[in-house]
Amino acid sequence: MMVFNDINEFKQWRLEQMGLIGFVPTMGALHKGHFELVQTSLNEADITIVSIFVNPTQFDNKEDLANYPNSLGDDLNALEDMGVSAVFLPNYEMLYPDDFKYKVTETELSQKFCGASRPGHFDGVLTVVLKLFNICIPHNVYFGEKDFQQMTLIEGMIEALFLPITLVPVPTVREESGLALSSRNQRLNSEQKQLAPKLNEVLKNASDAEQAQQQLTELGFNVDYVEDWNHRRLAAAWLGDVRLIDNVEV
Ligand code: PAF
Repeated sequence: MMVFNDINEFKQWRLEQMGLIGFVPTMGALHKGHFELVQTSLNEADITIVSIFVNPTQFDNKEDLANYPNSLGDDLNALEDMGVSAVFLPNYEMLYPDDFKYKVTETELSQKFCGASRPGHFDGVLTVVLKLFNICIPHNVYFGEKDFQQMTLIEGMIEALFLPITLVPVPTVREESGLALSSRNQRLNSEQKQLAPKLNEVLKNASDAEQAQQQLTELGFNVDYVEDWNHRRLAAAWLGDVRLIDNVEV
């Protein structure tokens, strides 16, 4: 497996690759949810590239950025064992020579749900993802349905900007309890870990979004939003200082 810290060396290597290129952008702290994205790419593409970059421009909260878990050594070992061709590890200076003066902004969906409580979050996501697409030049890109709003916005950007890329949605991977896998789950204490699966259970079983919100609040979640949109029930809720998101089909 090739590991690139240097953007020019990575671009040079990329130009030498033939066949269908699959790309999985990540922020590291990889778990089974990421491995499902990577495995889907390995099954479909000739070459699979993974990037690991904790993108500061998508964090509206400095503490959340500072607390973001890092397990680079384990991540690289796991990706190598899976058969990934290359890992790209850029840094801020490399990816943002403009220091984020240029941004990709979506003006409707990005303002709702997670965007309403995390101002600028999706500008950061869309901007870094477009930069990574332009550097990796993938044919297929793999995104998890867990971040349904993010995935929909990236699909919209691909369409709006005529990017020659296919986005492949990958279903959410869950623990047996129903809890959607997330790097942030590591920060739940044992009591919160017991409660966290209720988020999925309530979203699935409540008769409407309002009832779900009420039940979650009664259970002790600090609910950010629960809303039905596009045949999905989307939610974000805090347990202590950990923000969980999930969605189910409705
Ligand atoms: O979903 C994530 O991990 C991030 O938002 C992404 C897509 C890697 C962009 O930084």
